[in-house]
Amino acid sequence: MSTLFVDEHASPLDAQQAAQLSALLQTLSASQATWLSGYLSGLNAQGALGAGTQATAAQPAAPAAQSAPAEPLTILYGSQTGNAEDVAEQLAERANADGLTANAVDMLDYKPRDLKKESNVVVLVSTHGEGDPPDNAEELHAFIHGKKAPKLEGMNFSVLAFGDTSYEQFCQTGKDFDAQLEKLGGTRVVDRVDLDVDFDDTVESWIDDVIAKFKDATGAGQAHANVTPLPGAAAQPAATESASSYSRKNPFPAEVLTNVVMNGQGSDKEVHHIELDTEDSGLTWEPGDSLGIIPANDPEVVAELIGALGVEADEMVTGIDGDVTLEHALTHQYEITTLTRPFIEKYAEQAANDALNALLAEDARQQLSEYIDGRFIVDLVEDYPIEGMAGADFVRLLRKLPPRLYSIASSHAANPDEIHLTVAAVRYETHGRKRHGVASVQLADRSEEARLPIYIDHNKNFKLPADDSAPIIMIGPGTGIAPFRAFVEEREERGADGKNWVFFGAQHFRTDFYYQTDWLRWREAGLLTRMDVAFSRDQADKIYVQDKIRQAGAEVYQWIEDGATLYVCGDANAMAADVHDALLDVIGEQAGITPEDAAGYLKNLQKEKRYQRDVY
Ligand SMILES: Cc1cc2nc3c(=O)[nH]c(=O)nc-3n(C[C@H](O)[C@H](O)[C@H](O)COP(=O)(O)OP(=O)(O)OC[C@H]3O[C@@H](n4cnc5c(N)ncnc54)[C@H](O)[C@@H]3O)c2cc1C
Ligand SMILES: NC(=O)c1ccc[n+]([C@@H]2O[C@H](COP(=O)([O-])OP(=O)(O)OC[C@H]3O[C@@H](n4cnc5c(N)ncnc54)[C@H](OP(=O)(O)O)[C@@H]3O)[C@@H](O)[C@H]2O)c1
Ligand SMILES: Cc1cc2nc3c(=O)[nH]c(=O)nc-3n(C[C@H](O)[C@H](O)[C@H](O)COP(=O)(O)O)c2cc1C
Repeated sequence: MSTLFVDEHASPLDAQQAAQLSALLQTLSASQATWLSGYLSGLNAQGALGAGTQATAAQPAAPAAQSAPAEPLTILYGSQTGNAEDVAEQLAERANADGLTANAVDMLDYKPRDLKKESNVVVLVSTHGEGDPPDNAEELHAFIHGKKAPKLEGMNFSVLAFGDTSYEQFCQTGKDFDAQLEKLGGTRVVDRVDLDVDFDDTVESWIDDVIAKFKDATGAGQAHANVTPLPGAAAQPAATESASSYSRKNPFPAEVLTNVVMNGQGSDKEVHHIELDTEDSGLTWEPGDSLGIIPANDPEVVAELIGALGVEADEMVTGIDGDVTLEHALTHQYEITTLTRPFIEKYAEQAANDALNALLAEDARQQLSEYIDGRFIVDLVEDYPIEGMAGADFVRLLRKLPPRLYSIASSHAANPDEIHLTVAAVRYETHGRKRHGVASVQLADRSEEARLPIYIDHNKNFKLPADDSAPIIMIGPGTGIAPFRAFVEEREERGADGKNWVFFGAQHFRTDFYYQTDWLRWREAGLLTRMDVAFSRDQADKIYVQDKIRQAGAEVYQWIEDGATLYVCGDANAMAADVHDALLDVIGEQAGITPEDAAGYLKNLQKEKRYQRDVY
């Protein structure tokens, strides 16, 4: 890392001023430096600096008529799919407009050691994997729990945790940060808030609360109420800003133009190539972004639930935006399939059933998770019926139907009026019943029935390199191939001359080689430099993408050394970790370094945004 040094010859400063500034710069965190830059520009803009305030180097002028500046607020976000990042940027924008000097920083770009220099920190972090931090939060999370964690007495903090109650380790990473910052001596200014997937309304009030409390904590509420926001604290454009008026809260109704199953006869898989019409929507996206779909529940599942409840479909209930029929609410507004502990707890309060209460006991966690596995809400209603419960009372227990994300498989530059998706229909049998996923099967079976409410879920953390000549390695078995079709299509459109290498895996070459003709065309055109395929079930022993990575270890390492960015997309449960291990092995072996050093090498790539993952 370069040492911060102010050269008196290359600046208008005299030697003493240059030395003083150099000394100060060494002590500043990134956010403090940003704040200082804005503060000085702000004073200058207000005429507080300059001729009238010129002073000797030994006595720098105090800004006339200004009281001490308010302390900066550092907003740290850890985010995989962009939710925490979007809210962090909203918070920064509103805080700056409200007189605070706030800076939203990606945890990956933040030096963990700077934490001890901070006085006011807000952490927004999601949870991924099974209770794990998102990729960009891993390092800071490990640091605050490690031996080098600093004392944080004097630091004010608040945590906003993003999660999903359908996961057992709900908001675990946010809980970890919250507990650990307190343990290290920090003072909690606003109590932690744990967000479920439907977080918009809670976020609004949380932002108000955080701004009010941190204005007091930083002093921005008193002396600076009349100070114009400083340039360095200028509102940051939200990552999701686009020309379109459509968003998650106001989705665009898209027509499905194409829906074809890509698997050949005899395949165990059912993966659909879907094309949606986005003409006149104004929606724009970049390769690596996902499409959000607000799904509707299957009418048969709705009817089954209404039957089990013993209520009428046309009963009027209070829905999300006012009074609607029960059938409408259960079809379009609420989640009626996924069974979660919080739902069972609320249901149990009404049921007053000893057996159900026993299942919720602290020492029955394992039994409860076995009960939940493979069961829908209707199964609970059938197993533990509540006599005489009205539809309206039942609806009050439900959570809003969460949107589903799908990697966009087409480039906006190549197809500005269409979005392509690669969707695996989720169908399975459990407890003797056929079940299916809400959104994937709506797309597969009923996508022509009505327009689909869609929005773009921008993902800054899964992006092509800005340098078109940089090589890229894309690892995407199964539906994980989707974004890489968009990547290569985009590079074709841009005339990018960087080398492109794809690793793809599926069960059978004959039936499951998604977008084979596209890959062949790009291979022949020279755009696709190399493609390695792992068809797991075409021979006696399984072959996976990680085997192909190991086999091509020398070339993979050479590409990385030549500046390649590595991308991984698809299954989070096993594939992502197995590919990670294969990359560690390749790096260790080829560079002749220890496993610890290989881990450091890969971590460094991640920090340089040259190892990006979008796994689910
Ligand atoms: C950033 C991102 C990108 C994504 N991109 C894609 C993509 O390109 N293509 C794609 O197909 N998907 C993709 N997904 C996954 C997608 O969002 C949905 O999660 C998926 O389609 C399932 O949604 P669903 O509504 O059909 O199923 P849901 O109604 O959500 O049901 C899924 C649930 O069913 C249960 N279940 C599933 N199988 C079984 C089984 N065998 N036994 C018991 N229970 C089971 C599990 O509890 C599972 O969580 C992506 C996800 C993310 C986060
Ligand atoms: N969150 C969701 O709701 C959601 C949605 C879609 C997919 N998924 C998950 O993603 C998985 C993959 O789904 P998909 O349809 O995209 O792909 P897929 O077609 O099931 O799998 C693609 C290829 O990856 C192989 N594979 C299996 N385990 C692997 C591992 N540990 N490492 C590398 N390759 C491995 C498969 O081999 P074999 O089959 O021969 O073992 C197959 O050849 C699903 O099983 C599911 O768990 C989840
Ligand atoms: C693969 C995957 C795993 C997840 N695991 C958890 C989990 O263990 N606990 C939890 O509370 N939420 C979990 N979530 C839900 C996310 O935390 C939630 O969607 C959050 O809003 C994402 O925020 P982000 O976009 O800032 O990453 C998971 C989501 C995905 C896609």
